[in-house]
Amino acid sequence: MVGQLGHPRAVTPELLTEADAGELFTLQRAAYLSEARAHGNFDLPPLVEPLADVRAALADPALPVWGVRDGHRLIATVRIRVRGDVGEVGRLAVAPDRQGEGLGTELLLAAEELAASAVTRFRLFTGERSAGALRLYARLGYRETHRSPEADYELIHLEKPRGRAPAAIR
Ligand SMILES: CC(C)(COP(=O)(O)OP(=O)(O)OC[C@H]1O[C@@H](n2cnc3c(N)ncnc32)[C@H](O)[C@@H]1OP(=O)(O)O)[C@@H](O)C(=O)NCCC(=O)NCCS
Repeated sequence: MVGQLGHPRAVTPELLTEADAGELFTLQRAAYLSEARAHGNFDLPPLVEPLADVRAALADPALPVWGVRDGHRLIATVRIRVRGDVGEVGRLAVAPDRQGEGLGTELLLAAEELAASAVTRFRLFTGERSAGALRLYARLGYRETHRSPEADYELIHLEKPRGRAPAAIR
């Protein structure tokens, strides 16, 4: 399932469209439930945004949203908004029953490669209790830049220069 460094990516992301809104809505709700529980916050944007907003995001040409399918089923997603030379990575999510297979790692690496050529660095953030995601980001070369308060926890903001090689990927 998972590619090795120096080999072609093992996942082939496709650009999602408005037709995928229902599936994306369902995937992000399922995936982010664990984050909500870890942070005691069930109002995370991926959990509360209405279907109409998901559809609008998919219709936004400035916001490519990628997905990975196993057959017909959508099992992973990520998006990168380009602002100047910064690629803002968001909503990396893998279906709960498919986590731990390397999909999140491979999808993020693939999306970085697909991001617009103007991008020279990537930024993202996650909650301080998202231990798995923080390990994944660190492995891929993301480093903390700062923290910001959110409810009773902090958001950790990370950045990575484009092309920084991952430390090690199993
Ligand atoms: C964070 C998230 C995207 C990670 O996706 P994932 O597909 O499980 O990630 P990976 O499989 O690449 O890596 C997860 C673990 O599996 C391990 N792994 C990767 N490939 C593996 C394989 N073939 N066999 C066994 N383990 C493997 C990784 O080493 C990693 O181990 P670690 O947790 O000890 O560091 C996923 O957990 C998720 O959707 N979480 C909810 C939403 C979220 O938190 N998003 C990010 C924050 S905004």
